[in-house]
Amino acid sequence: STALVEAAKKKAAFAAVAEHFTSTMRFVGIGSGSTIVYGVEAIKAHLAAHPPPQGHINWFVPTGWNSRKVIEAAGLTPIAFDSLPADAQLEVAFDGADEVDDELNCIKGGGACLFQEKLVACRSKKFVCIADYRKNQQRLLTNWPTIPIEVAPIAYASVIRELVALGSVKPILREHTLSKTGPVQTDQSFYIIDAPFKQLLTAGDVKQGKDGSGKDGVWEVETLARRIKAINGVLEVGLFCGLNGIQAQAAGLLGGQKPV
Ligand code: A5P
Repeated sequence: STALVEAAKKKAAFAAVAEHFTSTMRFVGIGSGSTIVYGVEAIKAHLAAHPPPQGHINWFVPTGWNSRKVIEAAGLTPIAFDSLPADAQLEVAFDGADEVDDELNCIKGGGACLFQEKLVACRSKKFVCIADYRKNQQRLLTNWPTIPIEVAPIAYASVIRELVALGSVKPILREHTLSKTGPVQTDQSFYIIDAPFKQLLTAGDVKQGKDGSGKDGVWEVETLARRIKAINGVLEVGLFCGLNGIQAQAAGLLGGQKPV
């Protein structure tokens, strides 16, 4: 049920912040989506209970318009990615995900944010993915059916053709539903293509001898991520691999019960 899912998101967020945030941090990344709202709530509560040292500022790096609004609404101090000191690294980036596999690779972009999220995640010493029990799967594309891909508007049709050549059966340009018409636009004014693929293999699967080279449309996560990113017109792909992520699993906190 929705209330249980919201409770799971919140528990995961508070657990993640308790373990991976401290008030002496300088630069902290804040992702996008509905789960990260609880992450920011947890950070705010943590700062109230453990105020930073006198004169110390915690700067929060947003990953898009909504993310920035969430930071501001909590009374935290935003700093734009391109205003960071040249040599600054973020201590940690918190974010949500659409699906997470056994090796902590993620599908992201369900909310049309992924480019800035990856930019921020890759500039962070640690990437902490806050995910509720629904998102935890052995392999990607189990429950979440498609890979979101951010593309330049002029190239969307040719990117779709290239995705079909990689084995995606029916990649779809994401459009507004309801009364709004036209393609969904990202914070970069780009489009999103949602590309279905067969369930993705992990690096572990390949080590065990499975063929993730794309034969018969079966890919290993990182190989496919590289192939998609190499398509002309693709800004970023919603596959996050090898980011040293740490999942905060709400399932355990709910006593291992997956509510139905
Ligand atoms: C936004 O495009 C995403 O990458 C989100 O982090 C992801 O979709 C998770 O969103 P929820 O927390 O709303 O499930």
